Amino acid sequence: MSEAFDALRAREQASVMSTYGRYPLAVASADGCRMRDLDGREYTDLLAGIAVCNLGHCQPEVADVIAAKARELVHVSNVFYQREQVELAEALLATCHMGKVFFCNSGAEANEGAIKLARRYMRTVKNRDAYEIVTLTQSFHGRTLATLTATGQDKIKFGFDPLPEGFITVAAGDIEALRAVISERTAAVLLECIQGEGGVKPFAPEYLDAVAQLCRERDVLFMIDEVQTGMCRTGKFWAFQNYGLTPDVFTCSKALANGLPMGAVLAADAVAAGFVPGSHATTFGGGALVASAALKTIEIMHRDKIAERAERMGDFALALFGELKDRFPDKIADVRGMGLMLGIELTFPGAAVWKALLDAGFVLNLTQDTVLRLLPPLVITQEDLKAFAEALAQELARV
Ligand SMILES: Cc1ncc(COP(=O)(O)O)c(C=O)c1O
Repeated sequence: MSEAFDALRAREQASVMSTYGRYPLAVASADGCRMRDLDGREYTDLLAGIAVCNLGHCQPEVADVIAAKARELVHVSNVFYQREQVELAEALLATCHMGKVFFCNSGAEANEGAIKLARRYMRTVKNRDAYEIVTLTQSFHGRTLATLTATGQDKIKFGFDPLPEGFITVAAGDIEALRAVISERTAAVLLECIQGEGGVKPFAPEYLDAVAQLCRERDVLFMIDEVQTGMCRTGKFWAFQNYGLTPDVFTCSKALANGLPMGAVLAADAVAAGFVPGSHATTFGGGALVASAALKTIEIMHRDKIAERAERMGDFALALFGELKDRFPDKIADVRGMGLMLGIELTFPGAAVWKALLDAGFVLNLTQDTVLRLLPPLVITQEDLKAFAEALAQELARV
């Protein structure tokens, strides 16, 4: 590592709370699928800020919109109407079957909002004392107290008890386990169609269909967390559209404004009636600056057919990785994913392979110890994917 990096790391350790297992890389600038470190070394980014910069880093048209809006209107309170927020709500609603949107600032805040909406809808619209939220093992829904309680991974909860009441986690993929816990107290089932942090695990369509049907039969809200899967990543605008599902509520965030912080809760009209003025709010939610960036992001996604591109590139990547699996059957246990949400599961802990790929100039992520996770900008090229596959092949041949 360079002197500049060492000096920055020392200052960071002295000044910033130690909550991240940081990679040994300081990013000075980025555009498209490239990032550069403090010394000007270039990396191919296969992570996009963990599924955030779906159009690539510093997308020029989004950057222009941000620059112009920063001189026109950055923030006013949500007690005022803002044209940009309304236009964004309309653009989002045009991508799905939902009726209303609530804007916030992060994935956790979106899920927190969905949980609050489910409970308030049950109490005030359905007149039922239903408050339990059922989630799945290996899920990830965020780091606030409610969303980490909803998250089905013990390591995320450690040290934070007492946790809020009213959350139940059941085995992912087991419809009978879900059926067994749904009662008159259940307000909603919340799940990711493809578990991201959980190791890039797409659910079988039959399972998700059965969950949706169970929710309908028992009059429980079916809520989908699209924070990681959303915004064209899986080959459709929303992952649930790959499955032909119709959730009552879904949440999104990461890629919504292509890098600016933003989240949203989308709900069917009847469910959205659970919120009334004063029941939920957030200072920055849907402000003019981020809303403009998100609006431009959505416009480009439609214009450039980004979802279709993600599907094509994802198929290309899966074929490449499938060849690697055939070449290294004792080292690659599985390759899987949907669109450009991809996982390569190794048969052994992957930290050394991950580090060697970083040293070779490829930024990706390791989840659940053995899964190399790729969430590249959706503008990634076949050449970049091939170069990565070659680097991985070299490393697997060595280990
Ligand atoms: C599926 C899912 N939900 C929620 C979150 C939390 O989002 P945020 O970090 O913006 O709070 C994440 C973040 O990785 C996620 O992947």
